[in-house]
Amino acid sequence: MDSPARAKDLTIMLPALLILVGAWATLQADLLSDRKVLLLPPVNFTIKATGLAQVRLRWDPHPDQEQRDVDLQYHVKINAPREDEYNTRKTESKYVAPLHDGFAASVRSILWRSHSLLASSWVSAELKASPGSSGTSVINLTCTTNTVLSSHTHLRPYQVSLRCTWLVGKDAPEDTQYFLYYRFGIWTEECQEYSRDALNRNTACWFPRTFINSKGFDKLAVHVNGSSKHAAIKPFDQLFTPHAIDQVNPPMNVTVEIEETSLYIQWEKPVSAFPVHCFNYELKIYNTKNGYFQIEKLATNRFISKIDDVSTYSIQVRAVVSSSCRASGSWGEWSQPLYVGKEKKPLAEWHLIVFPATACFVLLIFSFICRVCHIWIKLFPPVPAPKSNIKDLLVVTDYEKAAWNETKIEVVSCVEEAGFEVMESSVF
Ligand SMILES: *[C@@H]1O[C@H](CO)[C@@H](O)[C@H](O)[C@H]1NC(C)=O
Ligand SMILES: *[C@@H]1O[C@H](CO)[C@@H](O)[C@H](O)[C@H]1NC(C)=O
Ligand SMILES: *[C@@H]1O[C@H](CO)[C@@H](O)[C@H](O)[C@H]1NC(C)=O
Repeated sequence: MDSPARAKDLTIMLPALLILVGAWATLQADLLSDRKVLLLPPVNFTIKATGLAQVRLRWDPHPDQEQRDVDLQYHVKINAPREDEYNTRKTESKYVAPLHDGFAASVRSILWRSHSLLASSWVSAELKASPGSSGTSVINLTCTTNTVLSSHTHLRPYQVSLRCTWLVGKDAPEDTQYFLYYRFGIWTEECQEYSRDALNRNTACWFPRTFINSKGFDKLAVHVNGSSKHAAIKPFDQLFTPHAIDQVNPPMNVTVEIEETSLYIQWEKPVSAFPVHCFNYELKIYNTKNGYFQIEKLATNRFISKIDDVSTYSIQVRAVVSSSCRASGSWGEWSQPLYVGKEKKPLAEWHLIVFPATACFVLLIFSFICRVCHIWIKLFPPVPAPKSNIKDLLVVTDYEKAAWNETKIEVVSCVEEAGFEVMESSVF
């Protein structure tokens, strides 16, 4: 019983053993042939700034490298300003990074053979840091974008505005002037509308319309350089993620209706290039009587709330672009509060200001009138003197030109003593 079974086992095991030995032999041969492949590093590696906060890395394959290796790749390592690495089959690549502190990278040829990596030696290149001490650069640069309705509706219905602010570097001389540029994709623009500090140095910038696409994935590059007679001003680059700095507008046309014990609240999507389904909302109903806040997170643009009909409510809504349409950003501004309810509290406060103001105004007018009366009474006594003069004048005028009389009386009676003399001499 035992021996035939053992023989059967052997007949199965033997071919398996042979296959294993064969595989090991071919593996050895492969490894030996790999050792003969000598990978040569790329040549002519250059780094060139091609735009604000953007470089192009370019190299050529080594002329002695056998081109039959279709799997030849390049391993690019960014050393500064921040470490990063990637592989590519191309001999050129673009890279976006702040450049004011310089840029350095290395590249080598690589080849995958039988699950092992063959690599050449590295070649390196760099861009020098911009001149100037870092204390002369701007600090605390912040930028925000906002979508506005375009005035040129036939071109694009929406446009994106950009606002940036910064602080003057602590080592920047008093005569320093800063200039801001932004790049989005292939578009670069210089700021035209600056705000200035007490020393007339630019510290904020406003672009009413830009080429920034709030739906885009590109980074927004902002470059602030400067000039001074006394020192080199070091430029400063910063990259912004558009969705992270986009300030969503408040929802539009918020309306509230009260029906018995229900509040019917509705609104429209904010001014935005994103369609209706891209928004989530937060609704805040504030009961001004007991100070209670009701906060609702909603994906629709209407809400019905049960209320206590003896209170006043303030209603506000804000929006966020939902993660189904873009990487999550932050909540937008609240809409202006709408007040509804029995006791019109804000109206009462308004009256508190308006009534005293009206009373003061009336009193002021009254006292003014009194003063004028006083002056009038004081002025009245001297009037008879010019009156007699006027009579004399009228006599003369009568004598000279009767037809002029009517007009002369009117003119002269309005003129005071001093003016009368002038009138006298100019007429005669
Ligand atoms: C390297 O650059 C030089 C000069 O631009 C050029 O003559 C040469 O052909 C390049 N080498 C390779 C391998 O392309
Ligand atoms: C500028 O930024 C630094 C660090 O980010 C912060 O500590 C400082 O308070 C900011 N300065 C002003 C004036 O906002
Ligand atoms: C600032 O940068 C812009 C864009 O690179 C450049 O055209 C301009 O000459 C620079 N100005 C100064 C003062 O360095």
